[in-house]
Amino acid sequence: MNVGILGTGHYVPTKVMTNKDMEKIVDTTDEWIRTRTGIEERRFAEDGIDTSDMSYHAAKEALKEANISPEEIDLILVATVTPDTPFPSVACTIQDRLGATNAAALDIGAACAGFVYGLVTATQFVKAGAYKHVLVVGADKLSKIIDWEDRSTCVLLGDGAGAVVVGEVGEGKGVLSFELGSKGSGGKDLLQNKEGFMEMNGREVFKFAVRQMPESTVNVVEKIALAKEDVDYLVPHQANIRIMDAARERLGISSDKMAKTITKYGNNSSASIPMALSESVKNGNIKDNDLIVLVGFGGGLAWGAAAIRWGV
Ligand code: UT7
Repeated sequence: MNVGILGTGHYVPTKVMTNKDMEKIVDTTDEWIRTRTGIEERRFAEDGIDTSDMSYHAAKEALKEANISPEEIDLILVATVTPDTPFPSVACTIQDRLGATNAAALDIGAACAGFVYGLVTATQFVKAGAYKHVLVVGADKLSKIIDWEDRSTCVLLGDGAGAVVVGEVGEGKGVLSFELGSKGSGGKDLLQNKEGFMEMNGREVFKFAVRQMPESTVNVVEKIALAKEDVDYLVPHQANIRIMDAARERLGISSDKMAKTITKYGNNSSASIPMALSESVKNGNIKDNDLIVLVGFGGGLAWGAAAIRWGV
C-alpha cells in the first residue's frame, strides 16, 4: 500500500517580533541575527493561545485540504516539546476540540525531529492496515521556554504549528523511505535546563547538523535507488540559514529548491517542518509528483528524514 500526505495546514501567530524589537531586550543587533542565523523576525503566540490552540487551527486546515471529517481520524499524533501540560496531552485536547470521536491520541517528544518521527509512525499504522487516517501535528510554543537573558538562544526561537493528514495515496506516491536516529550522548548539548529554559551549545549542535542533514537526505534517496540530483524540493528543519545552506550546497540543491520560512518565523522546533511544508504546498513550490525530502534534527539528539513522492 502507498501511504502519504492527503492534506496540509499551518498556523502562524499574529504577534510579530523583529530583530529591532530583540535589540531592545538583549545585547544583540539586527545585523548579527541576520548574518549569523538568517532570521529577520519571528512570531509569538498571543496571550491565552497555547500549543493546543495552534495545533487545533493547523489541524482544521489540514483536514479541510484532505477533505476528511474529524470522525474519520483514527489516530492523532502531536509532536511537541512544549505541551500545554504533560497530561492531558495536546493530542487529547485537540481530539475533543476537533470532535475526532473515533481517534486514539498521544504526544510525541523528539524535539525538532518530532514531526518526522510522527509522520513515519503514522505511515506505519496505515501501511499495517490498522488505521486509515492519522492526523500528525508538529506544534511548539517555544516562547514558554525562552531564557530572555541568553542572547545566544532567545533570538532564534518562535511559535507556530503545522499539520498533515496521512492516508492511502496512489501508486508510486507517498512516503517512499525514511531514516530515524538518535544519539543520547549528545543530549547535553541541547536541553531544557532545571529552570525550564532551553539551553544549547550552539557550536556543537551546528557541527552535528551540518553533517547530519546531508547524510540523512542522501540515505533516504539512496534507499529508493535515486540520487541527490533527483530531489526536487528540500524541506529542512529551520534552525539556521547557514546550516541549511551548507547542507543544501553539499547536496547540490539550488536555493530556490529549499523551503526557507526561518526568515519570517525563526526556529519553531517540532513545528518548523510541517509549517514549511504546508506553506510550500500553498505557494506552489511543491508540485504533484515532486520528490521532496523532509529532514530534521535537534534535541535528544534525534534526527529523521523522509523521502516523499508528492501527490495523492
Ligand atoms: O533547533 C535546534 C537546533 N539548533 C541549532 O541547530 C542551532 C545551531 N547553532 C547555531 O545556529 C549557531 O551556533 C548560533 C546561531 C546559536 C550561534 O552562532 P555562532 O556563529 O555559532 O556563534 P558563537 O556561538 O560562536 O558566538 C560568536 C559570538 C560570541 O561572542 P564572542 O565570544 O566571540 O565574543 C557570542 O557571545 O557571538 C556572540 N553572540 C551574539 N552576539 C550578538 C551570541 N549570540 C549573540 C547575539 N547577538 N544574539
